[in-house]
Order: sequence, then structure tokens, then C-alpha cells
Amino acid sequence: MVSFSKVVCFLAASLNLKYSLALPLEHNSELPHAIKSRQQQYFAITGVTDGGVQPRLEIRTLASTKPEMWNLFLLAMERFKAMDQTTRESYYQIAGIHGAPYSAWDRVSGSGNWGYCPHGSNIFGPWHKPYIVLFEQVLQQKAKEIANALPAGTNKDKYVAAANELRLPYWDWAIDPAGGTVMPASMSTKTISVTYPNGTTATIQNPLYTYNFNPLRAADFPDPNNNMPPFDEWKTTLRQPSSSTASAVSNDAALEKELKGNLNYNRAQLYKLFTQTQKYQTFSNKASGGSIGNLESLHDNIHSAFGSGHMGWPPAAAFDPAFWLHHCNVDRMLALWQALYPSTYVESASQKGPTYTIKKGSSQNANSNLTPFHRDTAGSFFTSANSRGITNFGYTYPELVGATNDTLKAKINALYGSTVQGIITKRADGSSTAPRDYVAKVSMPWIGLEGTFSVGLFLGDFNHDPKAWAKDPNFLGAQTSMSNPYTPDNDVVITNSVVLTQALAKKHQSGELESLDEETVVAYLAKNLHWEVQRQGVIVPKTDVPDFKVVVQSIEIKPAESASDFPVWVGGWSTHSAVTDSAN
Ligand SMILES: *[C@@H]1O[C@H](CO)[C@@H](O)[C@H](O)[C@H]1NC(C)=O
Ligand SMILES: *[C@@H]1O[C@H](CO)[C@@H](O)[C@H](O)[C@H]1NC(C)=O
Repeated sequence: MVSFSKVVCFLAASLNLKYSLALPLEHNSELPHAIKSRQQQYFAITGVTDGGVQPRLEIRTLASTKPEMWNLFLLAMERFKAMDQTTRESYYQIAGIHGAPYSAWDRVSGSGNWGYCPHGSNIFGPWHKPYIVLFEQVLQQKAKEIANALPAGTNKDKYVAAANELRLPYWDWAIDPAGGTVMPASMSTKTISVTYPNGTTATIQNPLYTYNFNPLRAADFPDPNNNMPPFDEWKTTLRQPSSSTASAVSNDAALEKELKGNLNYNRAQLYKLFTQTQKYQTFSNKASGGSIGNLESLHDNIHSAFGSGHMGWPPAAAFDPAFWLHHCNVDRMLALWQALYPSTYVESASQKGPTYTIKKGSSQNANSNLTPFHRDTAGSFFTSANSRGITNFGYTYPELVGATNDTLKAKINALYGSTVQGIITKRADGSSTAPRDYVAKVSMPWIGLEGTFSVGLFLGDFNHDPKAWAKDPNFLGAQTSMSNPYTPDNDVVITNSVVLTQALAKKHQSGELESLDEETVVAYLAKNLHWEVQRQGVIVPKTDVPDFKVVVQSIEIKPAESASDFPVWVGGWSTHSAVTDSAN
């Protein structure tokens, strides 16, 4: 198959024709030698091959502990983004792999108004790995160019060493920012201070804040039904844009409000993903029928915080520099999860939506090609199976360095665990019941509302304006389904477990919830648990959302017995239908 795809790709390139996958294999032997020798080499994604295996660092750690590396990172990002948009390795072309423009990258042809990125797919996680590695590889190359251009001397040696060890940082949007903002200032200020290798300090346009299209090619962002924000008019990437006109500007305070308002929700979701055992198939994506929660849905929530900005829409998301730091974190979550549960991985699944190269309804498995990512210049592709590890790509994550399962679990507990692990009721005789975990299982369609939408949950009265949700004291969090409005209809229903336990404990502490016995809790939830659906800041009647459902359940939870132990669900679920029968 390797030589087949290679042949097909270079034929398509040389003759400038769209190829058909039905091209008979025999064409292989009939290729004129002259055409073959003109063939350009494919881009080999190897990961960074300098400096051995290095940890990708959290962006705030990189900025505060590695000054040379941090400055090189900023300067390399600046240089990367300044590349000619027609160059294959440019920021523009690499960002364009994900969604728009819908054209071939590295001569891997396809069709349709969608990018190569598989969403709602068993290969969602594995596909993004070589994608992030590709970005990191070009970025580190830029850092090396900067360091290598320095005059010989100790400064040069220091910077070359820093460039060799540079890996893409990740943005951990689930940690407690300890009084700081969820979005690090280094990603959200318009300008940033940089120290050049010669010691001069300057203030530059922050390369992590926007991408300025250079130039903007309107035709690269087609929207025939006019149901996306005006990406064909915005000359720069925007976050929580102030309007849907060409003159819109970013509203960074609104973005921070969304991230902060959803922080506890997202952290609790992540902790459930790490601690409750499920198969890779249901853990990794939103279309495999799981109900605990899944990495893709959690990832969707972060995209959604950017509102109608580029990050909120799959066709445009990868142009915002935040995409890369966000997805580096998603890759880290996947890597940590794989280290905890190494025996489960991608299984075959029918694809519920199309990509540029994958037909809807086709089947993908661990050996399917992760297009358009080549592992060598001859044109063989990465697959989920051959990209399962991380150190072979030259990187690791801090939590995995020298880790055992116990040290890893201890780090996860410290970063994302909660002191409240379950709701405990006192019996009349003074003894306590086993702790219980309360969740709302929220089911929603992947698509059906023409693009990204979300469900907000509340415990108590709330402001019905979606723009006010995130700062409402009774807001629990919102679950998003991110989608391309042009994805053809499908029957995928996504279920996520929204954790209610910590919020209930807080309401009890404040005296609002009288007691924690089951009857009182259920009655309280029946009266106070509310939910609402919004799209682009506008309420959508729940009855307009197909397959939408909320079910409240509880289960016994066995608390962690040590700092390196996880709390786990035991026994069966009780359904509290009284809550959802009356509440809305
Ligand atoms: C230091 O390097 C920067 C970037 O190359 C340059 O703009 C600046 O003029 C240099 N400063 C000195 C004192 O050479
Ligand atoms: C790590 O610990 C978790 C939770 O106790 C357990 O389910 C998992 O199998 C362990 N993984 C390894 C690799 O030992």
C-alpha cells in the first residue's frame, strides 16, 4: 500500500490531476522514469531529533525557568509565522491542514469542504499527535536557525543547546492558576517582552496572541450558507470577537471569564477521565458511545471558550496560536492516560463524519493512514499503531519522566484531584453511609444545530443570557459539541457525566442544602438543577435539539486511600428520575 499511495500522489502532483482511489495498482509498473525523477520528496515528520528526549513544559514553567529557551521559543514562533504562506512548511499551510483551506498538503489529495482533521472519530487522538509533532519540528528548526546565526562564543553555545532542547510548551487550562488567569498572560497580551541573544530587550507583537493573515485569501474560507463567522473578512485571528463584522476585535476579558467559569467543571471532567476505567475507544472521542466523558468533548469545551473566534470553529481553529498550546495539552492528557492504561487502544470504527480524505461511513482502524502525515520522504504514512508512543518523537511530559504508576497518579491527584470525593450521609445511629458521587449524564447530538453549541448547567437560579452564564454564581459549567456546520447529518449522540458532588457539598456548607441524605439531595436537585442550550450566544429551545436528554444518577465511590491512589466507582448506578421529571 505504501508504494501505491506514493505512486498515486506523485502522479496527481506531476499531472496536476485529482486522483481517484480506484486507480489500479498496475499503474505502478508503467510509470515513466522521467516523471519519477522529477518527484519532490515528501515531508518526513520525525519529531525533534536534537537534544535526546526532552519534556514538553507547561508554558508558565518554560517562561519562568528557562530564559534562553523561552526567548528562543518566542523568536522562533515569530519567524515561523512570518514564512511565505505558499511554502509547504509555513505556519499558514500547516494550520490549514486542520480545516480550511480545503486543499492538498504534502500532495495528499482529497475532496469536500472539510479539512483532514477527524472529529467524532476513533483516530481523533492519534491524528493530532503527528500534527503537533510536525508543528514542533518546524518551530524547533526556526529556533536552531536563530541560534546557529549567532557569532561563535559561549552565548552561541548556550543558545544552540537551548534550541536543541526546545519542545513545544503546553497550556494546562485545567490547573488552579493560583491567583493568576487561566489563560496565561504570555498568551493573551498584545505585546510581549523578549530578550535577544545579544542581551538587548525589546517589546514585540506577541507571537502567541494572533496570526495575521499575510495576505488574507477570502476564497480560502468558503461559507456558501453563510453560517460561520466572517473568517473570509477577518485579517487576523480573533478570540471572543466583539461582533460578526469585519471590524470586530478580540475580547480577552470575555475569554478569561469563560475559561474561569468553566475551570472547576473542566478539571472535574478531566479527573473523572483519569480515574474511572474505560476503553480507549470511549475515552478518546465523542462518537464511540461512552458515558463517563471523553477527551474530545473536554477539548471541545476549551475551543468553545473562544466564542465565535477562530478557535471555536473547526475550519479556522488552527490559525490561532493558542490552538497549538491547547492541543499540546490534549496530547499530554492522552499520553498520561495511555501510561495509566497501556493495554487498550484504537479499535476499528465506522466514521460518522467525513474528512478531506476519509469518506463518511468508511471504517478506520489502528493501521489506517493518518493523512496527510508522512513518516519518511518516500511517502509512507503514520498510523495510530506506529505512532502509539511519544519518546520516539523526541519528547515526553514532566509527569512521565522517571514515573511509576504511583508517582503518576500522585501527580494527577495533586494537579486535578478534589478533597471532596463523595457525599456522605449520617445515619440516625451516628454511623455514616458509604460516600456517593452524583452526576448528571447529559446527552446531546454532535451536530444538528449548524455548528458549535453548548449546554450550560446550573444549581439554583441563574441569568438566562448565555454571555452572563460563566460568571453566574450558580453556574456549574457548560458542555460543548464543537462542529463544522457543513458536516453532513449523522446520528451521533454524545453523553458526558457532569459531576455534581463538589457543588452539592458546597451548597451544604453554605446551608442552602439542609442535609446530605439522599432524599434531601434528590429533592434539592429536582428544584434547583437547571440546564439551557446556547449557540453563538443565543438560547436555543431544548425541544429544538434532537436527542437531547439529562439524567441524574448516583453511584458509590470508594475514596482514595493514599495520595497515589484514585477514588473509583463501585457497584451500580441509581437513577434519580424525580430530578429530571420535574426540573428543566
Ligand atoms: C540585538 O539583536 C536584535 C535582534 O537581532 C537587534 O535588533 C538589536 O539591534 C541588537 N542589539 C545590539 C546592541 O546589537
Ligand atoms: C495504574 O493504576 C490504575 C488505577 O489504580 C490502574 O487501573 C492501572 O491498571 C495501573 N496501570 C498500570 C500500568 O499499572
